[in-house]
Amino acid sequence: MTTFDIQTLQTELHNKSPRKILRTALEQFDNIAISFSGAEDVILIDMALQMKKNIQVFSLDTGRLHPETYRFIEQVRKYYKIEIECLTPNPATLEKLVKEKGLFSFYEDDHKECCGIRKVEPLRRKLSQLDAWITGQRKDQSLDTRQDIPEVQIDGAFSTDDNQLIKFNPLLNWSSAQVWDYIEAYEVPFNPLHQQGFISIGCEPCTRAVLPNQHERAGRWWWEDATKKECGLHAANIKD
Ligand code: ADX
Ligand code: SF4
Repeated sequence: MTTFDIQTLQTELHNKSPRKILRTALEQFDNIAISFSGAEDVILIDMALQMKKNIQVFSLDTGRLHPETYRFIEQVRKYYKIEIECLTPNPATLEKLVKEKGLFSFYEDDHKECCGIRKVEPLRRKLSQLDAWITGQRKDQSLDTRQDIPEVQIDGAFSTDDNQLIKFNPLLNWSSAQVWDYIEAYEVPFNPLHQQGFISIGCEPCTRAVLPNQHERAGRWWWEDATKKECGLHAANIKD
């Protein structure tokens, strides 16, 4: 797709419902996959399967997810009878990091290096084989980094000279409450950590439950500045 086509598509999808955005994404691209974190973005899988039988889904298995999240990914795989491709980090790079800096370097350095190895490199490998991907990002997840995400965009962070990658964010305009209304109304399976005070769920050492009225991403990389709370998957959200 040219830049012009994307702008036309973005105008067409602006402020449209998650279903409309998702349906358009699946109609426009065959080689497209849903990026599933093992949290409430499960509703993308639920919606997509009502539109198309063969959907591609992948998860970044950082090796540091909660046991509940691993079990939940497996539950989703069985419940929907779909394949979920679990992508793992490059073993040599990971071994080097752990040998040199130990298993919790992110508390001292910041999370960029570990996320780079455990999430971004496997994601880059996967995205190089795709024409487009679908994420569960929402504006209400962050006042600092997610207010400007569009319905569809050229993914500048992961496109290459040979492959212009398109990124769809169907849930962008939904609130957390709307997502949970959907989960309840359609009896969608959910990660049990949500019943223990976790709202946003990432890796176990870098996620904690939040207190009443705290923002959901307060529980992610809580030792870092809110404006930096992106791990590189959505690098385009960080402004210089
Ligand atoms: S993160 O960048 O801070 O970790 P967040 O947890 O808000 O992301 O999730 C936003 C979207 O990013 C998810 O809906 C999903 O599409 C994608 N994502 C995040 N973590 C993963 C993961 N481990 N595997 C696959 N996709 C993920
Ligand atoms: Fe590493 Fe934490 Fe990033 Fe997971 S979230 S990849 S454990 S720094």
